[in-house]
Amino acid sequence: MPTRRRGIAEGGHATRAAVVRCIVAAILAAIVVAGLVALVFWLVVRPKPIEYTVTSAAVRHLNVTPLHSGPGCSGPAVNATFYLALAIDNPNRRISMRYEHGVALRVLYGGSELELAAGYIVPGFHQPHRNETTVRAVARSAPCPVPVPVPDLFAWELEHDLAAGELSVDVEVSTGVRFIVGGVASRYYQVNVTCSPVNISLSPSAARSFNSVPCDVEIS
Ligand SMILES: *[C@@H]1O[C@H](CO)[C@@H](O)[C@H](O)[C@H]1NC(C)=O
Ligand SMILES: *[C@@H]1O[C@H](CO)[C@@H](O)[C@H](O)[C@H]1NC(C)=O
Ligand SMILES: *[C@@H]1O[C@H](CO)[C@@H](O)[C@H](O)[C@H]1NC(C)=O
Ligand SMILES: *[C@@H]1O[C@H](CO)[C@@H](O)[C@H](O)[C@H]1NC(C)=O
Repeated sequence: MPTRRRGIAEGGHATRAAVVRCIVAAILAAIVVAGLVALVFWLVVRPKPIEYTVTSAAVRHLNVTPLHSGPGCSGPAVNATFYLALAIDNPNRRISMRYEHGVALRVLYGGSELELAAGYIVPGFHQPHRNETTVRAVARSAPCPVPVPVPDLFAWELEHDLAAGELSVDVEVSTGVRFIVGGVASRYYQVNVTCSPVNISLSPSAARSFNSVPCDVEIS
């Protein structure tokens, strides 16, 4: 009797072990197939990073008002108009891109703490594969009384830069894209781009000698 019971117990054990082996094998097979699909997709599509570069930047009418007065504004205020060109390079052979809601740009100062100006490129556009497109934007300071009052330290630094003839800013680009492969669009991705430092000469004659600034790209 005890032997037979042991036999049945061993039999159940063996069946369970077989089922576990089968599940493990199925999971491994699924992982291998998923890996192969990803590998084939990667080999066919060969995704390459999108590159953003500030290729020209100029500023006009930059002035710091020491004591800006008016309804709702007091203290130093800044007023400037920036002219920016941003080259967007899509080096992919099989991926095109849809910029759905255009592109927003911000010009920041003082370790990105102070927004000097903002601009938008609308409407959205489609960028074909293997294409470099240059978009141009004008970024303006918010009109008073909206502008953030410029802290005295930044006002002082801006005056210093004006005297030195060069302004060092960061340009932030915010946009959203869908990647299109073989007619199928991906989900919506938020793209945050930081270009730093963008050094702008204040003398108009030096505008042509601007050195392009490559940007850091974060896609999420
Ligand atoms: C890139 O795409 C834009 C928009 O479709 C087009 O106007 C431009 O000519 C293209 N540039 C190149 C270099 O193919
Ligand atoms: C800012 O500068 C522009 C261009 O010079 C001017 O038209 C505008 O009135 C100025 N805004 C303020 C609030 O000073
Ligand atoms: C840009 O300007 C900043 C501040 O003036 C300076 O520290 C930096 O070296 C400059 N960068 C380039 C690339 O000229
Ligand atoms: C990207 O930029 C947007 C708008 O400026 C901001 O709300 C968001 O937090 C940023 N995302 C990342 C990952 O930095």
